[in-house]
Amino acid sequence: MKIGILISGRGSNMQALVKAAAEPDYPAEVAVVISNRPDALGLEYARHVGLPAVTIDHKAYDSREAFERELDRVLRQYGTELICNAGFMRLLTAGFVDAWHDRQINIHPSLLPAYKGLHSHERVLADGVKITGCSVHFVRTAMDAGPIIAQAAVPVLEGDEPGDLAARVLQAEHQLYPHALKLVAEGRARVRDEKVVIDGNDRAAPALFSPLIGARD
Ligand code: GAR
Repeated sequence: MKIGILISGRGSNMQALVKAAAEPDYPAEVAVVISNRPDALGLEYARHVGLPAVTIDHKAYDSREAFERELDRVLRQYGTELICNAGFMRLLTAGFVDAWHDRQINIHPSLLPAYKGLHSHERVLADGVKITGCSVHFVRTAMDAGPIIAQAAVPVLEGDEPGDLAARVLQAEHQLYPHALKLVAEGRARVRDEKVVIDGNDRAAPALFSPLIGARD
């Protein structure tokens, strides 16, 4: 399955997907990396490993629709079958989201549906919850909403600052996203009644992914 990765910045999740896709037998290949910001660090990495890396600067377009028309055109030009949002910080209109229905996934650094939106780690710490994590989900028009494919649980530790928590969750993101993409690319994660069903769900391919617990097994 050919994927197009959308980024806006550092692109560490994009790197995790690129590395996974380089493995023999991985069921997805990266067709193009697109950033809406010309200064996104991730573009350099994509170019460095020889991938098409395209900037579509949203500021250069009169409207969201015009920006998205170009985004859609470039994605199709590279034969994209599935879009992976990886730190892509631009809201998409219903027209674009509907055109890629069940063919666009996103990673968010919380256990959705909790802590949607920005500054999730700050809010997790303010609430004093003991477990947070990250989620990969199919994209719908509402922000950070849509059928959940897989989640990773991450502990909140005593004395954590937002940056500590962000770094710990990010490590889990780098494991979770390739895992979730594999499930989708193999056709095993399917949406039924707006929930994801994983075909042949078993311990080898869990939808709940908890690296720390797994490490102790
Ligand atoms: C990641 O933590 C990702 O989950 C988050 O932005 C970061 C991007 O880092 N995405 C969102 O908050 C989307 N709502 P990266 O550029 O290094 O992958």
